[in-house]
Amino acid sequence: MIDPNLVFALVILAIAGVAYFVFASFVFGAGYQPTPRRAVTSMLELARVAPSDRVVDLGAGTGAIVFRAARERGARVLGVEVEPIRFVILALRRRWGGPRDRVDLQWGNLFGTELGDADVVTCFLWPGAMARLGPVFEAKLRLGTRIVSHWHAIPGWIPEKVDRVEHVYLYRTPRRPENPSEGVGAGRAA
Ligand SMILES: C[S@@+](CC[C@H](N)C(=O)[O-])C[C@H]1O[C@@H](n2cnc3c(N)ncnc32)[C@H](O)[C@@H]1O
Repeated sequence: MIDPNLVFALVILAIAGVAYFVFASFVFGAGYQPTPRRAVTSMLELARVAPSDRVVDLGAGTGAIVFRAARERGARVLGVEVEPIRFVILALRRRWGGPRDRVDLQWGNLFGTELGDADVVTCFLWPGAMARLGPVFEAKLRLGTRIVSHWHAIPGWIPEKVDRVEHVYLYRTPRRPENPSEGVGAGRAA
């Protein structure tokens, strides 16, 4: 007969494991929830992701955006993920499903990511992280870089397009105030 204490311990362990997997990364900027398939389609469409693009997915999860951008759009993609189990899943998907030559992975905090070569930035993060990212985008992204965010807007920025059905916001990085020669972008509210 199975020991009820063992069953209880296993159930608690399973609940703790799921809670860790979904919520632990909240302290870094978002818990785990994969972007729904139709929202990913909308993000790639709105940003017009093409083979010439370098896409950076900030908080790559298990790769809902990363692998479709690389496989369906032919883009070069960098996925940045802080949570180690998800990072291993990403690495295994890249190893066995590829395309290895177009997918790079980085284990670490997205706020330290080098973004200077990005043409498109994708994210599905929680509101606090989006608020922190606004100034980061202004400081690090080139003028005109497309940013697509699922569900949460960038506070104080004006989206170029919004898909209200799939909850996707498209932005372009605006001119940096200290560098007026860059021209005027559409991203930030006056
Ligand atoms: C809502 S999920 C979205 C996952 C993925 N982009 C997708 O579309 O399926 C957010 C992901 O961001 C990761 N994350 C949260 N804060 C992070 C940070 N500061 N640096 C790197 N990854 C982070 C979480 O671990 C989680 O996997």
